[in-house]
Amino acid sequence: PDIFRRELVDVQGVPLFWSIAEQWSQVESFEARPDDLLISTYPKSGTTWISEILDLIYNNGDVEKCKRDAIYKRVPFMELIIPGLSNGIELLQNMKSPRLVKTHLPVELLPSSFWKNDCKMIYVARNAKDVAVSYYYFHQMAKMHPEPGTWEEFLEKFMDGKLSFGSWYDHVKGWWEKRGHYRILYLFYEDMKEDLKCEIQKLLKFLEKDLPEETMNKILYHSSFSVMKQNPNANYTTMKKEEMDHSVSPFMRKGISGDWKNHFTVAQYERFEEDYITKMKESTLKFRSEI
Ligand code: PPS
Repeated sequence: PDIFRRELVDVQGVPLFWSIAEQWSQVESFEARPDDLLISTYPKSGTTWISEILDLIYNNGDVEKCKRDAIYKRVPFMELIIPGLSNGIELLQNMKSPRLVKTHLPVELLPSSFWKNDCKMIYVARNAKDVAVSYYYFHQMAKMHPEPGTWEEFLEKFMDGKLSFGSWYDHVKGWWEKRGHYRILYLFYEDMKEDLKCEIQKLLKFLEKDLPEETMNKILYHSSFSVMKQNPNANYTTMKKEEMDHSVSPFMRKGISGDWKNHFTVAQYERFEEDYITKMKESTLKFRSEI
């Protein structure tokens, strides 16, 4: 099948899965609705986590309702088009409002209808080194990605932005720069790990929604890593084995901050940090570890 054509093709300088690149005009002309809520992330930054939380909020903490379908059906991945397997745009067209929409697109590639409709957007950023590690494991288990090679080789590709959805550095900076001009709530995975309740309160304020304490507690419980890992509608185990092989590495892998320490050598760390400073120095965006 086509997913085994593990190939990336450039769209305006950004490497994307070949099938997304081939169908780019469909993505570009996607029609957002004013009450869409966009969930935007660089891959492996907490997309599934924030998606589950938002679906729980939208359903007032009704856990059973949130088990109605897999997360990738409840929160369709807009630009993901794989012939014969999946089409995010069609899923969304057939969905009732208000919709939760997932994207990994860098800000400059977002379909213009989102800006025109002044949609609310939530961006989640995660520190670069943990994203690199998580993405490395994901390349091994999710078969649409090109072969990752060794960790050393993969890390070079990460630093060069030669992975699906392009450069992490440009992605986090690009969305950061837009946040003052549009309705964008910019969150961090590390903050969610430290104090999830506080981040959910930010979400509620942004959505102009109020929830009783009891509902908040339910949401906190059902979005915890251990509960989501056991939930087939959140952990991606309902996908076909040819697409994702959880025996290689589970989608819900570790769910922690700082796992990079188990993967980077001292030399890799030093090289990475030096390069990081160069790429991030112009930006006011700061991640915890540097603060
Ligand atoms: S994807 O494929 O881009 O949509 O992946 P994404 O969901 O963005 O990222 C997957 C990583 O998020 C971790 N995760 C969680 N961490 C903490 N708490 C919860 N509830 C949670 N759910 C998912 C998941 O384990 C992946 O990170 P790693 O570091 O690989 O464990």
